[in-house]
Amino acid sequence: MKISVVSQKPQDKAITVLKLVEQRQESWIEVLPDGQRILALGIGDKNQINRRKLFILARQVIALAKGQRIKSIAIPFDDLEFSNVQLSNEEKAEVLAINFEMANFEFVQYKTPPKEGWNFVEEIVLHSSQDKAEIEKGIEKGMLIANAVNNTRILSNTPGGDMTPKILAEAARKAARETSAKVTVLEPKEMKELGMGGITGVAKGSSEEPRFIILEYYGAGKNEQPIVLIGKGVTFDTGGINLKPREGTSDMHMDMSGGAAVMHSVVLAAKMGLQKNIVGLIPAAENMPSGSSYHPGDVLRTISGKTIEVLDTDAEGRILLADALGYAKRYNPRLVIDVATLTGAAMAALGQRASAIFTTDQKLEQLFRELGEETGDYVWPMPLWEEYAEEIKGTFGDWANMGKTRYGGAITAAVFLKQFTEGYPWVHIDIAPRMTAIEGEYLAKGAAGAPVRLLIKLLQRI
Ligand code: BES
Ligand code: MN
Ligand code: ZN
Repeated sequence: MKISVVSQKPQDKAITVLKLVEQRQESWIEVLPDGQRILALGIGDKNQINRRKLFILARQVIALAKGQRIKSIAIPFDDLEFSNVQLSNEEKAEVLAINFEMANFEFVQYKTPPKEGWNFVEEIVLHSSQDKAEIEKGIEKGMLIANAVNNTRILSNTPGGDMTPKILAEAARKAARETSAKVTVLEPKEMKELGMGGITGVAKGSSEEPRFIILEYYGAGKNEQPIVLIGKGVTFDTGGINLKPREGTSDMHMDMSGGAAVMHSVVLAAKMGLQKNIVGLIPAAENMPSGSSYHPGDVLRTISGKTIEVLDTDAEGRILLADALGYAKRYNPRLVIDVATLTGAAMAALGQRASAIFTTDQKLEQLFRELGEETGDYVWPMPLWEEYAEEIKGTFGDWANMGKTRYGGAITAAVFLKQFTEGYPWVHIDIAPRMTAIEGEYLAKGAAGAPVRLLIKLLQRI
């Protein structure tokens, strides 16, 4: 989609003009006597529109246009001014561009194009009497961010059979091409030499080899401590020997969504030329049941030397992450953030509108919540209290990969991860709640691309 800025409402009849109508809720099409088509959109009470609603409004415009097969649409930038949304023109343009692009995205790679073609919006013309350069700057930034989000969604949506650890590693190489980010991929032999018994353990049941994907972007001096992002890269999660029940398994090709988000956030940081050092770590494996699978009861030795007693092969994410958290230490990071579709329990707790965040650092918690509101990648805090560690003490290994009860599963998973962090500030984001888009968000079915928008703002700000 192309977004341009002009100073006056376009007269071109091939362009449909958006008109915002207050105190109405419905939308309709008008044709003026001169043939100009108008898309009228009821926005209710203008004073009720806040930042959250602006995101949705921007997406709704695109959804309506797609429904009407409108290819070009003119949007009155200056009318999108609301007393409860405080944004500079540049910021507003960025927010609009991100949400237009996110709403225009659909995963059609595996579909036969319809005879009449796809109904994507091809062109948006923002008309505004205000400074054009500022708006254009916002659009440019917004498009970069939106593309990172949508590329994340493509990787996540790609079926498990076509998105193996090896292919995920190739995707990282491809994404980083033409940027200054460097990609290194560790193969099973090196992983075993390093002592990554967690990742290689989880991967045992699959005929697909695991990979440990490393993205390094050095935008600051070599001596500056990096921020390390870790993303869960389970390319398909069957549950392993503790096989998942039928329901929900078909979504488990998206269990590498954290890895995809980390990959595209690091690449985006490189494209934006951020003056920071940023490292992405993606432990990638497929969790499969077979004669060579890891067993319930197995004890795996991780890179840090600490052992994991496998009580349930379906709690595989935390096992991979334990190795990645241990590996992160060698970077002497100033902050480590892991992003994972880790627990169904996080969804039970929060529904599907916010990811769960865990950190013992109050300032970071506050910052993440603010950035969540700012970007639309909403997050909500949950505790990391020591008491919970009682529930994951192992009998034959140091730590059990599951709590003693089925309660508080998102927390016991987070507290498990905490045991493998060492000497650095850390934030854990359980994005299981935001793995897929939900109705009413005006996003295509499938992966939601969380939390790329939040991560990039964090990398910019911190
Ligand atoms: N990948 C799943 C968690 C998940 C479930 C993500 C649904 C997105 C949607 C994870 O590996 C898993 O299976 N977790 C188990 C843990 C349990 C066995 C302790 C869960 O949540 O049930
Ligand atoms: Mn699992
Ligand atoms: Zn999983």
